[in-house]
This record gives sequence, structure tokens and C-alpha cells, in this order.
Amino acid sequence: MALSQKQISGIKAVIFLLALLPFFRLVAFAFLDKLGANPVEFITRNTGDWTLYFLCIALAVTPVRRLLNVPWLLKLRRMLGLYGFFYASLHFLTFLWFDHFFDVQEMWKDVLKRPFITVGFIAFVGLLPLALTSTNGMIKRLGGKRWQLLHKLVYVIVPFGVLHYYWMKSGKHDLTQPLMFAALVGTLLLARVWWHWSATARNQASA
Ligand code: HEM
Repeated sequence: MALSQKQISGIKAVIFLLALLPFFRLVAFAFLDKLGANPVEFITRNTGDWTLYFLCIALAVTPVRRLLNVPWLLKLRRMLGLYGFFYASLHFLTFLWFDHFFDVQEMWKDVLKRPFITVGFIAFVGLLPLALTSTNGMIKRLGGKRWQLLHKLVYVIVPFGVLHYYWMKSGKHDLTQPLMFAALVGTLLLARVWWHWSATARNQASA
């Protein structure tokens, strides 16, 4: 399905606004005092969920684009990934601010003490270079090949995010949702491996 540049810009604008809704919902809940008995837990979990949703959606863009033959979906990927980073930053900020009151040393101790947080922290740090190099200027400066290689980091970061979720929930003996995310992310990554292998096999056959 081919779309005009104007239609793609329209879709982008709608998704941009829709992606802000979880943030404004949190702000509204805070003002209306509807964050429940444990507001910090509510915000941490909510922002953690939305981080994972956006990272998975960004990871799904390429397989969906190929399967449904909708090339313009690629134009949404950067924005979706950046929203993943936006919610990850809120998630981390909640932890640093409300759990540790900006005491970086205390935060650091907590990160090292609790393995599920160590893993989440690694995933967040991994997202930083991707977010910082997401501008057109940086793509040019790095060169397409190097930029693409760097952005392959996301194939490690998202599984780390899922592991973080799994580890957190394993302490609560509630693994259904983390396992669903693991299956989803595993499928999205395996689809890439499959396409890569079949392209290599085709190239070898035609050589
Ligand atoms: C890409 C990075 C990350 C992803 C995808 C992610 C995702 C999540 C998810 C899905 C949850 C559970 C939400 C729920 O129960 O519904 C969660 C909880 C949590 N995350 Fe993360 N997270 C990330 C990074 C971090 C970082 C950097 C920290 C802190 C350094 C962190 C600290 C926590 C804490 C403290 C909880 C809540 C534990 C609880 O309420 O018992 N996360 N995260």
C-alpha cells in the first residue's frame, strides 16, 4: 500500500500524540490523586510497561512491514524507538528521584545489589547511544553502515528489558506476562535471523 508524503506525515502526527497519552494519563492521575496506595510503585510499573511496549512495537516494525508489504512503516520506527527511550527515562527518573531522592551513591548500591535492577540499568544505558545517534545529522556523521551496526544493539537491549521484567516477576511467582513478552521478542528476533539466512542462501545459489 503506497501512501503520499502528506499521508505519512499525518499518520506520524497522530501516533506522536497517541504515544503521549500514557504520560498525560499519569500526570492526570497524579493531580487527581488516583495513583493508589503506592504512587511510586504505580508510576514505576506503568512507565516500565510502556518502555517495554514501545521497544517491542519498534522491534515489530520491520517484520510487519515485510509481511504486510507496507514500506512506509519504516518511517515510524525511529519515533517509536524514541518513545521507548522517553518512557525508559521516566522509569529511571522515578527510581532515582522517588526511590533514592537523587542520592546517586545509594542508587548505585541498589543497582548493584538487586540483579533485576542491574539488568534494567544495563538495558537503559544501552539505549542511550541509540537515542543520542537518532538524529539525521548523527546518521550522516557516523555513516549508514556504522549507524546500522550500532543500532543492532537493540537486539540485545530488548531481551535485557524482558529479562529485567522476568526477574522482577519471578520473585513474585507470576511469570505469565514476562513469558509472553519473551515469546514475542523471541519471534521478532528469529524472524530476522530467518530472513538473513534465506537471503544468504539465495545469494549463494545465484553466485
Ligand atoms: C529498557 C529498560 C527497562 C525496561 C524495558 C524496563 C521494564 C520494566 C517493567 C516491564 C517493569 C514491571 C512493570 C509491571 O510490573 O507491570 C519494571 C519494573 C521496575 N523497573 Fe524497569 N525497566 C527498564 C529499566 C529500568 C532501570 C534503568 C531501572 C532502575 C535503575 C529499573 C527499575 C525498575 C524497578 C525498581 C521496577 C519495579 C519493581 C517493583 O515495583 O517491585 N528499570 N521495569
